[in-house]
Amino acid sequence: MKRLKVKNILSDGNAGQAITVCGWVRTRRESRGIAFIALNDGSAQDTLQLVIAETSPAFQKLTRCNTGAAIKATGILKESPAQGQKFEVEISEIEIFGDADPASYPLQKKGHTLEFLREIGHLRPRTNTFGAVFRVRNILAEAVHEFFQGRGFVWVHTPVITASDCEGAGDLFTVTTLDLEKPPRDNNGIDFSQDFFGKRAYLTVSGQLEAEFLAMSLGDVYTFGPTFRAENSNTTRHLSEFWMIEPEMAFADIRDDMELAENFFRTLCGKVLEKGESEIAFLEKFYKNTSISELKNLSEKSFVHITYTEAVKELEKATEKFEFPVKWGLDLQSEHERYLTDKVCKGPVIVTDYPKEIKAFYMRMNDDGKTVAAMDVLVPKIGEIIGGSQREERLEALTERMSQSGIPFENVEWYLDLRRFGSAPHAGFGLGFERLVQYITGMHNIRDVIPCPRAPQTIKF
Ligand code: 4AD
Ligand code: MG
Repeated sequence: MKRLKVKNILSDGNAGQAITVCGWVRTRRESRGIAFIALNDGSAQDTLQLVIAETSPAFQKLTRCNTGAAIKATGILKESPAQGQKFEVEISEIEIFGDADPASYPLQKKGHTLEFLREIGHLRPRTNTFGAVFRVRNILAEAVHEFFQGRGFVWVHTPVITASDCEGAGDLFTVTTLDLEKPPRDNNGIDFSQDFFGKRAYLTVSGQLEAEFLAMSLGDVYTFGPTFRAENSNTTRHLSEFWMIEPEMAFADIRDDMELAENFFRTLCGKVLEKGESEIAFLEKFYKNTSISELKNLSEKSFVHITYTEAVKELEKATEKFEFPVKWGLDLQSEHERYLTDKVCKGPVIVTDYPKEIKAFYMRMNDDGKTVAAMDVLVPKIGEIIGGSQREERLEALTERMSQSGIPFENVEWYLDLRRFGSAPHAGFGLGFERLVQYITGMHNIRDVIPCPRAPQTIKF
């Protein structure tokens, strides 16, 4: 169709140039015999103004150019006399691809609530808000690869279907082809040896364990793919299907891990401003929960570091009443995390050295015998955005932790092999991609930063 994209026209167009654009009508208005269409094609936040004079043959088509209609328009690019836009297009021809009946098309001009838009997930990307969010998501995805590729990390593809429970937390979706009406049974219940893979299989909760064996051969690696959690958490920061980025570094300790996490986070904040400042400006104006100055600040600022033990002391000192108890040994709840970021540290904070009982079996035991070399990055408003650790590379210490935590050995012999042959210190972390997009766009609900959110009792499409 030789169409030009609105984004490119607005940035590189030349007055006098003949152009063809395709897109969806946002608005149409008429004034003194001239019609104006604001056309959006998804390439940018901005619309392109199409100007149709009464004398143009295209004028006859206008009655079908309703909000939401898909059209192709041809004309000449002109400098716009109107304020706030560089160009407009004097249209000679319009072709209608698809009408949108104003009586039934749900996205009319008026503002819609995010709750309503969630009900029409297939149409919401056509709004300014979701266009901005998904373009920011794309900028961040590209920046993730650029960051790691630029540092010589190898992108590895870990499986979606797995036989192991990485986090040992049991929040797994089972993958099966067994007849759910009458599954084969043995003495222990359902007999998964008769299932598709000959044993019970799951959707992965994390690619970390596989990334570890790849790091133990390729050096520095990262994953970037979907992960699944069957936790029954109906909150604004949990999804059942979310994307995770998990770097894993050979010959690295917890300090290297924190340094990488901090650089990574800062670089991503900077990249969004570099490539998507207008998207952030829009979200700042309408939702006031993100800002260009805040992201700029984040892209330059170092994180505060505190240990879990210090964090608990801060929480015990707090005059604020918490819903959940604070005591050394108990996990930090999101209200506690928010207190630490918003009140104590006034910005992102890395909490390290958590009690071993509340962290996964693979984290390296500290010399005190009580805490592990874990690090969580907490950010204001959201809480935990990154979880990572130095891994236990000593075979005996690892098997002891596994026994204590009740992790079955049969599926993870291969994982122990990594400690039997050429074991080395290594470390990594997981960044929840949607939590990052949520934080950067300031969207209140994580369901509004992924095209098709999955959550308990929620699956559309
Ligand atoms: O802290 P988590 O559970 O850590 C791991 O899975 C490790 N294996 C990572 C590693 O060391 N390679 O999860 C990591 C991050 C969290 O900090 C959070 O940002 C995100 O994943 N996350 C979720 N995001 C959305 N919905 C959920 N239900 C999430 N659960 C975790
Ligand atoms: Mg965690």
